[in-house]
Amino acid sequence: MESSLKLEEILKSAIDSLYLTIIIDENEIVRYISESYSKILNLPVTQAIGKHVKTVVPDTRTIEVLRSGKADLGSIYTLQNGDITVCNRLPIKDSYGEVRGVISTATFPNLEVINRFSKEIKKLREENKLYQMQLSSLKQSQFSLDSVIGNTPQIAQIKDTIGKIANSELSVLITGETGTGKEVFANAIHQLSNRRHGSYVKVNCAAIPKDLLESELFGYDEGAFSGAKKGGKPGKFEQANNGTILLDEISEMPLGLQSKLLRVLQEKEFERVGGNKTINLNVRVISASNQNIEAMVEGGIFRRDLYYRINVIELALPSLRERLDDLPLLCEHLISKINTRHGCYIDSVSEEVLTMFYDYNWPGNVRELEHVLERASVLTLSGALEKSDFDFFWPRVYKNDIKKSNIHLFQDSKQNAERRAIKNALETTMGNKTQAAKLLGISRSLLYEKLKKYKIEK
Ligand SMILES: Nc1ncnc2c1ncn2[C@@H]1O[C@H](COP(=O)(O)OP(=O)(O)OP(=O)(O)O)[C@@H](O)[C@H]1O
Ligand SMILES: [Mg+2]
Repeated sequence: MESSLKLEEILKSAIDSLYLTIIIDENEIVRYISESYSKILNLPVTQAIGKHVKTVVPDTRTIEVLRSGKADLGSIYTLQNGDITVCNRLPIKDSYGEVRGVISTATFPNLEVINRFSKEIKKLREENKLYQMQLSSLKQSQFSLDSVIGNTPQIAQIKDTIGKIANSELSVLITGETGTGKEVFANAIHQLSNRRHGSYVKVNCAAIPKDLLESELFGYDEGAFSGAKKGGKPGKFEQANNGTILLDEISEMPLGLQSKLLRVLQEKEFERVGGNKTINLNVRVISASNQNIEAMVEGGIFRRDLYYRINVIELALPSLRERLDDLPLLCEHLISKINTRHGCYIDSVSEEVLTMFYDYNWPGNVRELEHVLERASVLTLSGALEKSDFDFFWPRVYKNDIKKSNIHLFQDSKQNAERRAIKNALETTMGNKTQAAKLLGISRSLLYEKLKKYKIEK
């Protein structure tokens, strides 16, 4: 029995049952559009048919399919009203295999597809978060090195080294005269490393009384000594776990503590004072000093093995007088800091002032420059800083004959180191001069001579 159902009718009803459909021919002209789709586009069917597909659906992807002849299945397409659909675009081929048009149908996703979407979106979000973090850490690293001011080759080279070693676990010793920026560099290393989300703990070994230093660094357990807090107290090393610790003025660390520190660095574990539980540690150690530790090692008051441990990478910061070319940059940076701090509006330093700055030897380095600029700025409040704003400073400049004062500085720091070395040795040997001389590697008579010279009584 022959069916009365005609092929065209089957096709028409099949196409009509597809929800959001558009068919174009090989000339990219719309030949069919479903009622539902024309409603979403807000364009009557009669007006859409016969038009170029781009004028009907500006962001259509049917043309790509027409050109490639390849189906595009299951892609996500956002409708003009914001609804998300799953879209299939199929080339229509004739009996010779030539592409004659494209049929595109979109449907709303079912639960399973929604699940797939939401997984996809979750993945994308996570990727996005990762990229954001990477971006912000890139910005951060830019920022941390930007906060270190200086373009002279000496500083550029140190910045370069920092960039290379920041992410490693290597211990860093930062040396340099007072005010050269040891803390600025230490902070930059932490910020640049992947420990930057961990804590950054600073300990000034010179500011803490020697007998308290051990419990400050390593903490104590309950009952460790009279007056110990109930429940004990974690020390700086514990606070710095998974982060970075800056041992500032490390030269001041007493010999006894040096051995404990050495063990911590070697074995990455320690016990609190009065405690018996071993605590494991993951800390990056940066040390800083404005003393010549090598000389202290020679004098026997700084452990050689500890020196090698803390000094895997040494960053020797140049004094300001060695990098005077950075003066303009530093002035600019420090002035903007001062403007923020004091609410003033200084915009520059006159050429005349700069010329005189070049003639000074800056024993207090960048810190001294900052203080000098600060004092002038606070008195002037706005505009350019002129020579007359620095009347308090010029006597200092003229008093110092540069070369002479450099020699003085050297002598001074050498004598200071010697004086401190002797004092430390005597403290360690509890006043026993024979042992102290041995520790210092000098004869007893030379020790007596030095004691007289430095007026040390012990
Ligand atoms: N390269 C630099 N870029 C920006 N600011 C700097 C730089 N060097 C030093 N400074 C500024 O100078 C001041 C002193 O720096 P810092 O405290 O780091 O010196 P220091 O070497 O630790 O000195 P000290 O040995 O006396 O402790 C700070 O206010 C710091 O911001
Ligand atoms: Mg410092």
